Amino acid sequence: MPKISQKAIEMPSSPIRKLVPYATEAKKRGVHVLHLNIGQPDIKAPQVAIDAIKNLPTNDVAYTNSEGVSSYQSGLVNYYKNNNINLNVKDIMITTGGSEALVMVFNACFNDDDEILVPEPFYANYNGFARQTNINVVPITASIENDFALPPIADFEKKITPKTKAIMICNPSNPTGYLYSLKELEQLKEIVLKHDLFLIADEVYREFCYDGHTPISILELDGLKENAIVIDSVSKRYSMCGARIGAIVTRNNELISVLMKFAQARLCPPYFGQVAAEAALNTPKEYFEEVKAEYVARRNYLVEALNKIEGVYCPMPKGAFYAVVKLPVENADEFAKWLLEEFEYKGTTVMVAPASGFYSTPNHGMNEVRVAYVLKISELKRAVIALEEGLRAYKEYKNK
Ligand SMILES: Cc1ncc(COP(=O)(O)O)c(C=O)c1O
Repeated sequence: MPKISQKAIEMPSSPIRKLVPYATEAKKRGVHVLHLNIGQPDIKAPQVAIDAIKNLPTNDVAYTNSEGVSSYQSGLVNYYKNNNINLNVKDIMITTGGSEALVMVFNACFNDDDEILVPEPFYANYNGFARQTNINVVPITASIENDFALPPIADFEKKITPKTKAIMICNPSNPTGYLYSLKELEQLKEIVLKHDLFLIADEVYREFCYDGHTPISILELDGLKENAIVIDSVSKRYSMCGARIGAIVTRNNELISVLMKFAQARLCPPYFGQVAAEAALNTPKEYFEEVKAEYVARRNYLVEALNKIEGVYCPMPKGAFYAVVKLPVENADEFAKWLLEEFEYKGTTVMVAPASGFYSTPNHGMNEVRVAYVLKISELKRAVIALEEGLRAYKEYKNK
């Protein structure tokens, strides 16, 4: 048999999805599985976006420009202007989701074996994108005790080698919900300028910031014209994950011109997705207000309820719709599997994502899980009860 590639063998599988077969089995047994494990919002997309697809003026489904539909790019310039960021149309390249934006940026910026420093825990697919593009993610560990704030800059300094080409953050963060402060971003600015590195910020959760906090984009910092690269997406902003539209935003002209070669090779981002994304720019303000209010209510309920369970600690996330939670178990991977395989409470169980998959340092986050508050409060209530009962039953099971 012809051999598959070493890269394919080393490609990590998703820590969020690896428990799916156990959930499927539980469902076959008639157990209701409450999904706290996945970031697929249950919020409806804005009506303006859906109407634009329904009312397409033409049957002409042609390729668009490789860098995206120009009226959509202009629309995004306006969107950024409303977020205090002045850009030109040529600073924005439309991509097939934030995912393609990350792969294109890695391909355009890095040579084989180059290193990128990323605070961990981080969005697990960064590992997959790094494998695809032959680069190495070097984790800088943030701690739950510190609510996942930016690790000390000295920790980054220690890990810088001649191979280091970039620092990457996710702001607000999936999986921790942490929102970086201006002071932290200024510290990152200083270190990238000192070592001549790119600063990549995955800002796909920008709209989801709570308690009056406003997100700060790295594009707002002066002096980073050549260094700053923002990854953007409509997946979460408008609850349009399936539209597959994202963007790379940078004022680095040379980078944009090499990115064009990658963009041209894959022809163009999806046409239908761009129609919906352009229309979504006209989403009324009330849509975001309602969505935010819903997430805040869910977060407040979930964090408070989790912290009431003995031995559980959940920092209060300032953004996104995730939290990393410390559980009174030694091995959360095993516990999460056990919840699906062995446990049910009044016909329900709960599925969580073990946090170890969001760390790249081996054996880190072993007693942590990531939860996503993408369920209605009534469902979250059932999930918290199932988790609490599950922890109790698991303790007995372990002490047997
Ligand atoms: C932090 C982060 N970045 C990027 C993505 C990729 O999103 P998409 O490719 O749907 O734009 C996701 C999706 O969950 C994410 O959570």
